[in-house]
Amino acid sequence: MTKFTQKYGSWALVTGATTGIGRAISEQLAQQGMNIVAVARNEGNLQSLKQTLQDDYAVDVRIIAADLSKPDANEMIERQSQDLDVGLLVANAGVENTGHFIENDQQAESHLLALNVVSPMQLSHSFAQRFAKRGKGGILLVSSLFGYQGVPYFANYSASKAYILSLGEALNVELKPLGIDVTVLSPGLTNTPMAANIPVDFNKMPITKHAPEVVAKVGLNALGRKATVVPGFINKFYAWENRLIPRSWPVKLFNFLISRAKTDNCPTTDLQTQR
Ligand SMILES: NC(=O)c1ccc[n+]([C@@H]2O[C@H](COP(=O)([O-])OP(=O)(O)OC[C@H]3O[C@@H](n4cnc5c(N)ncnc54)[C@H](OP(=O)(O)O)[C@@H]3O)[C@@H](O)[C@H]2O)c1
Repeated sequence: MTKFTQKYGSWALVTGATTGIGRAISEQLAQQGMNIVAVARNEGNLQSLKQTLQDDYAVDVRIIAADLSKPDANEMIERQSQDLDVGLLVANAGVENTGHFIENDQQAESHLLALNVVSPMQLSHSFAQRFAKRGKGGILLVSSLFGYQGVPYFANYSASKAYILSLGEALNVELKPLGIDVTVLSPGLTNTPMAANIPVDFNKMPITKHAPEVVAKVGLNALGRKATVVPGFINKFYAWENRLIPRSWPVKLFNFLISRAKTDNCPTTDLQTQR
């Protein structure tokens, strides 16, 4: 892995740093000597992460307890990290909502957009301005394999991840002349608390589940080298094949696969077409 302390400086800010992919990224950055600004909501989990990173890797850790779906979160993070020479942003925090679109709670769908779309956009904007002044920096945006196509039962989630993929692809080119690397990491199914709570039996689907440590490593390895990266051979195939065939085909395929695999607690609808 590239030595990020030489390339970007000594501080990285990671959102959603306490569990899953964000935690694995924080640990791998700390392992190579980077100090971490860790952002999540649960203060107890942040304190415990801080202790672990300090004990295991002897790095400095600042924690910021913030709900990134709130309108003032970006400003708060700016304020609380202003005195640090942050050179790497990992916008990882996200939520998913599974279920029939019309049965899902509208507020939950809006909350998803605030966290998955508005927050990474605002953080990328604020930190890119900071990085441009330093003449160097890195931004790792976490999208999803589902960002490569519309996914029934994950309609709003897959749309939010498509936004991140598109934003990152554009910023990769636009910010390069300013010395800023931008990479979009699009994991497939990953063994994290988020995946454990999705009301779908993924064993019934032809996909593989990866460890968050593997996904984190793939993402960090790609930073500065690639605009986009998808961990795992089968996931890469899904991302690649849907560029070669009509866009509707993979959407229908996933409608079929998820309809078969959703569990009893997945919101479905009894409404039928009135014709
Ligand atoms: N797991 C998968 O299969 C998978 C696949 C593709 C893409 N992804 C993407 O990978 C990213 C990480 O997912 P994960 O599976 O590692 O998730 P996770 O294990 O559920 O971890 C989510 C992290 O984000 C924080 N978080 C959640 N809501 C937040 C909020 N409103 N404000 C601030 N922090 C918040 C959580 O801490 P608190 O709860 O304390 O806030 C936690 O640290 C997400 O963007 C997800 O969409 C995951």
